[in-house]
Amino acid sequence: TELKNIRNFSIVAHIDHGKSTLADRLIQSTNTVADRDMKAQMLDSMDIERERGITIKANSVRIEYKANDGELYILNLIDTPGHVDFAYEVSRSMQAVEGSLLVVDASQGVEAQTLANVYHALDADHEIVPVLNKVDLPAADVEAVRTNIEDVIGIDASDAVEISAKTGLGIPAVLEAIVTRLPAPKGDRDAPLKAMLVDSWYDAYLGVVVMIRVIDGTVKKGDVVKMMQTNATYKIDKLAVLKPKMVDFPELGPGEIGILTASIKQVRDTKVGDTITHDKKPCAKALPGFAPSVPVVFCGLFPVDANDFDDLRNAIEKLQLNDASFSSEMETSAALGFGFRCGFLGLLHLEVIRDRLEREYDINLITTAPSVIYRIFMRDGTMKELHNPADMPDLTFVDHIEEPRIKATIMVPDDYLGDVLKLCQDRRGIQMDLTYAGARAMVVYDLPLNEVVFDFYDRLKSITKGYASFDYQFMDYREDNLVKMSILVNDEPVDALSTMVHRDRAETRGRAMCEKLKDLIPRHMFKIPIQAAIGGKVIARETLSALRKDVTAKCYGGDATRKKKLLEKQKAGKKKMRQFGRVEIPQEAFISALKMD
Ligand code: GTP
Repeated sequence: TELKNIRNFSIVAHIDHGKSTLADRLIQSTNTVADRDMKAQMLDSMDIERERGITIKANSVRIEYKANDGELYILNLIDTPGHVDFAYEVSRSMQAVEGSLLVVDASQGVEAQTLANVYHALDADHEIVPVLNKVDLPAADVEAVRTNIEDVIGIDASDAVEISAKTGLGIPAVLEAIVTRLPAPKGDRDAPLKAMLVDSWYDAYLGVVVMIRVIDGTVKKGDVVKMMQTNATYKIDKLAVLKPKMVDFPELGPGEIGILTASIKQVRDTKVGDTITHDKKPCAKALPGFAPSVPVVFCGLFPVDANDFDDLRNAIEKLQLNDASFSSEMETSAALGFGFRCGFLGLLHLEVIRDRLEREYDINLITTAPSVIYRIFMRDGTMKELHNPADMPDLTFVDHIEEPRIKATIMVPDDYLGDVLKLCQDRRGIQMDLTYAGARAMVVYDLPLNEVVFDFYDRLKSITKGYASFDYQFMDYREDNLVKMSILVNDEPVDALSTMVHRDRAETRGRAMCEKLKDLIPRHMFKIPIQAAIGGKVIARETLSALRKDVTAKCYGGDATRKKKLLEKQKAGKKKMRQFGRVEIPQEAFISALKMD
């Protein structure tokens, strides 16, 4: 296909503003998929995911469209990962296309996630076509949202396309806007091959599938290609385009997007953002901006039942087939036994993986407190990265400690602003910006990642009744007065409860944890001291008094069934307990003890 007849684009939208519905409409109205095969949400391949038990990131579609000018165009839509943790992957997808549709729900307006993604699009020099969706809703206010887009994002929205992805209204205008308002790609067909690795995933039948965007040159089945970052070479077994089903394709030229397979063993061997070229006739320079994705949040995952350890290992390996950014290492904890220390790109990533392990693989897990990576600068001039508070070196050898900070953007209706500011302040935030757009405020905070990893998002949702939207990006590492706080139960340190805290907050945090644990740990036949300590110094203490009578004593009278039920309940509760020395601690304690409210 000639360059002038190609348009590559992505859709930028906040969750629920209608990205998938619009994509479906574009696919349907161009007969890309026969009507009888049209399933709602073509780009969401959750069904296949469920069927095969692994993630399939079907994420691009090639649409043929005969425009009003009488010419046939190839429109390539690339789907970008939806959530904040995949910022790098989003930025690469954006680099692979020339324009974006900015979809905003006309009854809602711009949200934090819209903003984060539109910045990626602007960074990639995209032409942006604003699309106001859901105009069929009575609550839609097209003019207000138009102004909102101009105020918050600063792009012209006067010729925004007004649509209803649900009813199909305005879809032809979207297709014309893609052709007439977005630029054609540029590239040199005669230059050596230069293609970007946009995404990759594991397919049970095909092995590793790689999505590419050709910049210069051409690529064919049978070609031997080289990945410039890893230096590995592969012979292409299959070259195809996604419609969104795979359709074999003889050759891809500049501006085109497709997939290849090449007997690549693991997703790990394919690096998003890498440059693919011919082994024999390579291009002179790799594409700029490559960065290996590295985990930033770590936590321990332990099976509640030690017998599930092998199942857990297998499940983690399965998930890793498709997710190279999720790392794991065996870990042993004095408190929790054998498990894994796992690394994630961010909080949501962590939650998604943990949920899948529990739900899809049916493994009962104890998750230890998420921790960020601290940089420990030793007196001898060396620096250690700390992934687990339990490994904190002796303080006498430590010079100073640095922690990662983020720039958080929160959008919230006015009414809740006060509570949001307080939450950010409580989490050691520094306000960077506060602006208004209509009845909504946008606040930008500089926050320690550590204060956000645990329950910040949950708290934010609950204090704003779900009306706040949140997005963040990594800023830098900064020194602060940080210490390791240990928790001792019955005078024994429980390693899985160790956390890094700011010195000024240690007492408050320690007291809160001890109080929580006191409620969470059932009484025993003896008194149990629960303490928080920094180094050898106890900073908070609670005592769980001894149990006097057995629980059934409360059920006076001779109600035997009630008594039996209670005992059964107690037994079931026991299964979820872990034994620490002479004390039993319920599994939920490990997470609940750390919640701050
Ligand atoms: P995620 O897939 O969750 O990221 O959301 P999304 O942005 O892809 O939104 P999706 O297309 O799933 O739409 C979200 C909800 O809005 C769905 O219930 C749609 O049916 C509905 N919706 C989408 N477009 C319209 C529209 O034009 N009008 C109305 N009334 N509802 C719409």
